[in-house]
Amino acid sequence: MNTTISDAIRYVGVDDKTIDLFESQYVVPEGVSYNSYLILDEKTALMDTVDARGVTGWEENVKAALSGKTPDYLVISHLEPDHAGSIGRLLEIYPDVTLVGNAKTFAMLPQFFDLSLEGRTLTVKEGDTLSLGKHTLQFFMAPMVHWPEVMVTYESSEKVLFSADGFGKFGALDSQEDWACEARRYYFNIVGKYGAPVQALLKKAASLSIETICPLHGPILKENLSYYIGLYDTWSSYRPEEKGVLVAYASIHGNTRKAAEKLADLLREKGVEKVVVSDLAREDMAEVIEDAFRYDRMVLAAASYDGGVFPCMQDFLHHLQSKTYQNRTVGILENGSWGPTAAKVMRGMLESMKNITILEPTVTIKSTLKEENMPDLKKLADAVANA
Ligand code: FEO
Repeated sequence: MNTTISDAIRYVGVDDKTIDLFESQYVVPEGVSYNSYLILDEKTALMDTVDARGVTGWEENVKAALSGKTPDYLVISHLEPDHAGSIGRLLEIYPDVTLVGNAKTFAMLPQFFDLSLEGRTLTVKEGDTLSLGKHTLQFFMAPMVHWPEVMVTYESSEKVLFSADGFGKFGALDSQEDWACEARRYYFNIVGKYGAPVQALLKKAASLSIETICPLHGPILKENLSYYIGLYDTWSSYRPEEKGVLVAYASIHGNTRKAAEKLADLLREKGVEKVVVSDLAREDMAEVIEDAFRYDRMVLAAASYDGGVFPCMQDFLHHLQSKTYQNRTVGILENGSWGPTAAKVMRGMLESMKNITILEPTVTIKSTLKEENMPDLKKLADAVANA
């Protein structure tokens, strides 16, 4: 991965390929990067630090890029420990550095660090600028993209936007995977709840001339920026990205799975081109959540369990509720060997979400899919295919 930005703006971040779960919940088979940047000018500015897991490599990168200089400023875009985790170490090495943040940054920072901030901070607000010499930083508040203190920084001479978590992606920088796949999984699982704040940030960004986006995770974006910004606009406005159906099933012994797969076959026979079938008990939940937002339709198929629904389906729907899943069309299939209860729970959770159309009929099977269930299954497949 090319991390060159310019002679004056250097990448000093690190990859983490050994973390088991990012934020203690997301598998990252290709690792993750903690990005940090250094701007060299009459004054030097570091743009964020890195997770404490990467402090040694980051310190080496910073020292090499500084070539004996001392940083004047540390701009803190975001206090979450995957970026702010090395602030303490920075102040040990360079005690005279000035921390640049907003009022919320400095209210929260002492919660994470036992540091004396007296005389060491520069508090900025919306639109404030900071001259480094040829480079000028301008600060824009981006509350709740992902935390309340988040701000982004625009450097006007080279037209660079330091976008905090925005436009971030799972995966170390040498990962060859497609940007959208892992950026989408990152977005919906980490920032997904905050569509309105992301929309507000996109409106601010639209007034800037941007040639490079430097996020805090994943690759530096230099070309075709309208593609990335367009996807962020789609995602943050909760519009489906493409037509397609996610069939998500929660099956105990495989019989609900067979019914879900039969429904998927019927959808394909009816000409639905994109049908994705996911096992909620075994697949990465974050990936299934990503697909729920990606497509315009979803079918939920679940076994009844303890008078409710099989837990992985409840967990999935709980995630969708918390990520404010909305504006989609959903079909329901339940299985129950005696008193089926799964559909009632799934319907109730879906009805708590905004602008969800639940298709009829709800299909109920008892233990296994039988010929007598096929008329209803076909009707549901028709409704999904034609929605
Ligand atoms: Fe990458 Fe919200 O921290």
